[in-house]
Amino acid sequence: MRGAFITLEGTEGVGKSTGLAAIERCVESLGHAVVLTREPGGTDLGERIREWVLHGNHADLSADVEALLMFAARRHHLEHVIVPALDRGDWVVCDRFTDATLAYQGGGKGLDERFLSCLADRVHGGVTPDLTLLLDAPVDVGLARIGDREPDHFEREGVAFFERVRRAYLRIAAENPERVRVVDASAAREDVLQQLRDTVMRFAQEFAAR
Ligand code: TMP
Repeated sequence: MRGAFITLEGTEGVGKSTGLAAIERCVESLGHAVVLTREPGGTDLGERIREWVLHGNHADLSADVEALLMFAARRHHLEHVIVPALDRGDWVVCDRFTDATLAYQGGGKGLDERFLSCLADRVHGGVTPDLTLLLDAPVDVGLARIGDREPDHFEREGVAFFERVRRAYLRIAAENPERVRVVDASAAREDVLQQLRDTVMRFAQEFAAR
């Protein structure tokens, strides 16, 4: 049986790293092999694109180029990591996927939604997440948590950018209630992790019954 494809999303500082580890352990406890991966990244090409886009300090990088690079990395990731793993029956847990492009390059930087969904259709080739967990918290809560570890693009974009990204994520969740589950990331750490585990457990039952 094909494995399940789970993605984790959220703005900066919402606790994705601890969330990912909890999801991984939860899926393993159900007896599935897990491939834990991330975007941008997950392949040699993807990691190079990540380094280049996120830490390259390219003031001249337009949102169009950024989105195209994200989708190029994504296609490579799908072809070489995600699809083979799902075909083997492994479960894939991916730190960000296309919702991040829709939220950051679309909501945050104003790229045309039709352009992005057209690219997404072509790049996905029919493979989309079965479950997306959206860790949601007010932007100031997330940014206060990361403190000095602010992302490189914070200086360029500022708080208003992250507010737009958060709104875009919440809109994606509202438009895709079957796939996207919103988890309140401003709650206490253990409560957040428990919400993630409960959601994955419920999803696993639904997925097995499909
Ligand atoms: P992270 O590893 O902390 O999640 O950082 C990845 C950064 O890349 C984060 O700021 C979101 C950004 N990003 C995009 O702008 N577009 C995308 O498509 C993806 C996957 C990530």
